[in-house]
Order: sequence, then structure tokens, then C-alpha cells
Amino acid sequence: MQTPPREGPAAPRILLAPMEGLLDHLLRDIITQVGGVDRCVSEFIRVTDTLLPDHVFLRRIPELNHGSRTGAGVPVRAQLLGSDPAMLAANAVALARLGAEGVDLNFGCPAPTVNRHRGGAVLLDEPELVHEIVAAVRRAVPAEVPVSAKMRLGHRDESRMLDCARAIDTAGAAELVVHARTKVHGYRPPAYWDRLALIREAVSLPVVANGEMWTVDDARRCLAQSGCDALMLGRGMVADPGLALAIRRPDAPPLAWDDLLPLVATFWSRLGETIAPRARAGRLKQWLNLLRRRFPEAEAAWVLVREVEDPDRVTALLFGGGTGSD
Ligand SMILES: Cc1cc2nc3c(=O)[nH]c(=O)nc-3n(C[C@H](O)[C@H](O)[C@H](O)COP(=O)(O)O)c2cc1C
Repeated sequence: MQTPPREGPAAPRILLAPMEGLLDHLLRDIITQVGGVDRCVSEFIRVTDTLLPDHVFLRRIPELNHGSRTGAGVPVRAQLLGSDPAMLAANAVALARLGAEGVDLNFGCPAPTVNRHRGGAVLLDEPELVHEIVAAVRRAVPAEVPVSAKMRLGHRDESRMLDCARAIDTAGAAELVVHARTKVHGYRPPAYWDRLALIREAVSLPVVANGEMWTVDDARRCLAQSGCDALMLGRGMVADPGLALAIRRPDAPPLAWDDLLPLVATFWSRLGETIAPRARAGRLKQWLNLLRRRFPEAEAAWVLVREVEDPDRVTALLFGGGTGSD
């Protein structure tokens, strides 16, 4: 009798989360070099009552100049945030014209300024409007451009969770990412991965699980509890850029600091070319602050530069004067 080959668990699809102010095109470029990411989503672009000029889209998503892909060739989907279906549709058309891989719609942002203007997670109180927005964008962009959405479990509670998911599904979205917390939960652990199983049962489109995955074990538990076969990773990937690969290939060695350090140095050097000197050290420290959760060497580096703002001093302290005096 033939023994069937032992099958490991199927590797999930992995998306890199949109993270305004943290995961910009520079860090997307660096992190996708490590591997394991199937697609990125840009930070949100807020749409109010105007058609944004192309330079706004290109500044936020310079990958549009390169086939909507990072340097490593990973597709980047553009994310829009707003509440006006017609304006969102018009801006989505502009993004499609610029070659965006797809358009994602944000129904999860908890920021008070955004919510006050009826954007982000507050829209989860209005599933009818959520439906109208997704349908308007879907109708407006060419059929080959996927339209997806990202939501939380709800605004104050989960009472309209399934209504919102169904609204997005029936409006023609190709995929739904769910950050498994309400707006009121903010970013406080835990994430309620089991709720995603309820959403999956209620809709026909693919559901991607998101929230609070920092380790391979977290990802396994999330896959088991949600029944999803795709994950979106945010802070966990910034803290450990090797996480996506580790999830996909559990037997591979974890990403070592020696392999990561050249990428940190490249990030530092490229920051020097693109942002104001006074903001440069802050951006590096922001990344080190997450990296130190996983790498003791990042903790040591963070302690060294915590109080330092002068870029030349950071270069001397961390990169031996060899990087970034550009
Ligand atoms: C600093 C920061 C910025 C974020 N910006 C966005 C955004 O622009 N669009 C969006 O849909 N979600 C945004 N999020 C939410 C993340 O995409 C993700 O849903 C959340 O961080 C949970 O995933 P994680 O636990 O893997 O980080 C942001 C989160 C953080 C912490």
C-alpha cells in the first residue's frame, strides 16, 4: 500500500499592512526585499470633495512609477479613505489610470480627526453607505483592477459586523481584510480572530485575517481560529521583517540581525536622500523601537541613539561613519 506524502499546512498568502506614518514606500521597499510578502497596501490617501492631483498619488505611492511594484517586485495596492462614493470613485479612476495594482477602501481607521469627518471606522455604523462606496468604486474602475476593502469588527461593538461584511461582498469587492478588533478596542490585545470565522461564513469573497500577529505561533493560532488562508501583517512585520518567510517556511532559519543590519543601513541612507534632516533620526528610531521587540541588537542600537537627533552622530554611532554622510 502506498503511503500518501505527508502534507504540511498550506502556506498562507501574506499581505503587508498599510501603516500611515510608519510603512511608507521606503520601508515597504526594504521589508519586501526580505521576502514572503505577496502584496502591500499603501497608507491611506484621504479623499474629501476633490479629485486629487496626480502628484499627491505619486508622492504617497512612488511605486506607481514602477508598475505599482516595490523594488523587489511586490505589487502595491492603493488605499483610499473617505465617505463620498462619487469622489472616491473619481479618485479611484485616477489611480487606475496611473497603473495602480488595485484600489483598497479603508473602513477601519480609528483616528478622531478622520472619524469626525465621517471617514474610517465610523462608517461601520452605516453598512448602506459602505455598500454604496464599494459599489461606486467597483463600477467606476476597469474590471481588471481589483477593488478590496479593509474593516474592523465594528465601531463601538460588533452588532453590524456581518451587515458590513455582506455590504462589501455584495457590492462586488474582490477581497476583505478584517482587523479583528472594533474601533473602541483600538490596538489593545487581544485580537478576536474567532470572529473572522463568522464573517467568512457570511460572505463569499476571500477574507484576510489581520491583527496582533507577532510570531509564527500567533499566525498559526490565527489561521486555526479564523479558518482564513490569507493573513495581513502590520507591526509584526516591522518588528521582524523575517516573519512572513518564517510563517511560510517553518523549517527555515529565522532572519538574523547580521542579515537585517545592511537593510537598516540602507533605510538610513535612503532617508538621508528623501526627508528633512531633522526628521531623519526619528524615522530610524521609530523602526528600531519595533525591531527591539525581536532583536537584542536593535535594543542596544535604540539605547545608543534614543536621545540623538543629529544625523551625522547617528551615522557615527550605528554605522561606523560609513553610511549616510551623504
Ligand atoms: C501606525 C499605524 C498606522 C496605520 N495606518 C493604517 C492605514 O493607513 N490604513 C489602514 O487600513 N490601516 C492602518 N493601520 C492599521 C494596520 O493596517 C493594522 O490593521 C493594525 O496595525 C493591526 O495589525 P497588526 O497587529 O499586524 O499591526 C495602521 C496601524 C498603525 C499602528
